[in-house]
Amino acid sequence: MNSFVEKVNFFGNTNAEELAKKYGTPLYVYNENILRDRMHKVSQVITKYPYTANYSVKANTNIHILKLAHEEGLNCDAMSEGEIRMLEAAGFEYDRIFFVPNNVSDEEMKYAIDRNIMTSLDSLAQLRRYGKLNKGGKCAVRINPGVGAGHHEKVVTGGKKTKFGISEEDIDEIFEIAKEYNLTIAGINQHIGSLFMKPDPYLEAVSNLLRIAKRFKNLEFIDFGGGYGIPYHKLDDEAEYDIEDFKKRLEPILDEFVKDYGYAPLFKSEPGRFCVAEGSVLLGRVYATKTNAGKEYAGTDIGMNVLVRPSMYDSWHDAEIIRDGKVVKRENLKEITICGNICESGDLLCKERPVPDIKEEDIVCLLDTGAYGYSMCSNYNSRPRPAEVLITKAGEDKVIRKRETYEDLLRHM
Ligand SMILES: Cc1ncc(COP(=O)(O)O)c(C=O)c1O
Repeated sequence: MNSFVEKVNFFGNTNAEELAKKYGTPLYVYNENILRDRMHKVSQVITKYPYTANYSVKANTNIHILKLAHEEGLNCDAMSEGEIRMLEAAGFEYDRIFFVPNNVSDEEMKYAIDRNIMTSLDSLAQLRRYGKLNKGGKCAVRINPGVGAGHHEKVVTGGKKTKFGISEEDIDEIFEIAKEYNLTIAGINQHIGSLFMKPDPYLEAVSNLLRIAKRFKNLEFIDFGGGYGIPYHKLDDEAEYDIEDFKKRLEPILDEFVKDYGYAPLFKSEPGRFCVAEGSVLLGRVYATKTNAGKEYAGTDIGMNVLVRPSMYDSWHDAEIIRDGKVVKRENLKEITICGNICESGDLLCKERPVPDIKEEDIVCLLDTGAYGYSMCSNYNSRPRPAEVLITKAGEDKVIRKRETYEDLLRHM
């Protein structure tokens, strides 16, 4: 594909250059149609049994995006009191929030308990704490399924080498603690990791969790976690995660469980990336080009403080080059390293990437930045966080978060 942004008319009635001039760079730009489309798709993963897709808001907590998730009928997962507060601000009812923290204080647990928000405990120690705070209450437990998957060691969250969840060997202790504090274990959840393009590891983990679920009586829900991938190599025509195929293969596994268990509890999933990643691009301006020891570099204002995924996980984001508002054709490619403006040698966005020639004042448009993009931004090097703009269904641009100012940087000092 020559250009994704052109193919989907990402910028609606405007273009990247106009947006960059109007709002400055770096700039996160979201497309409402794409966001809604992906949110709708995940809400259809299970249709035969009661099911909710819980958007995992850590991927992106902008409350305008949370409002879209609300309108698309998604429930949400929150990892912290802060994320619960974002969901409250976006209008989420408490019974549409599932709190899945790890290693939290009594105060943070109490925030959820006081609002009757279903909470999952990630260790026996946290379950005990919860029991003391909410005797006779109802909660869930996060199981470590013993298997994990993901695009990088740092995003594998299931399996023997990770900090998450309660091991199968410790399940009897869950029952003992529940008895001591008269807790009802209403649900179990897991999350094996992030970004797989084939459903096999997930399906294996579903079967495994359903086997474990039979040890729990009267479950109200079973949550299989998130992790569905998106094609980060779309310019090379990488295929989408095949939701239809996944759905077809998942259904018989659920059928068998429901037959054995006697009824269908509410099934849940926790997709983050799938809902929001493809619905955003990140625009940055090129302020320098140079050759260092035979290697070409294009220096932009997209530092690792704005998008940390490439430095943190060696993640790939496709890059389109935009000149005077038009995408430069992908021909006569040469290897250029696109980098940011942070004082770190790891501040690289695209390493030795075949791209059309890049000139000063071009715009670099990184694709698929909606998940773990803005939500992982920092002020490193005392750089204010960027603005976020939404291209609405009608194709209009609307600011959904202002750029931070230098006063913001000083506010708490
Ligand atoms: C517990 C939990 N649920 C859901 C997710 C969402 O994962 P993804 O964005 O890959 O779908 C994560 C991400 O790490 C997670 O830790």
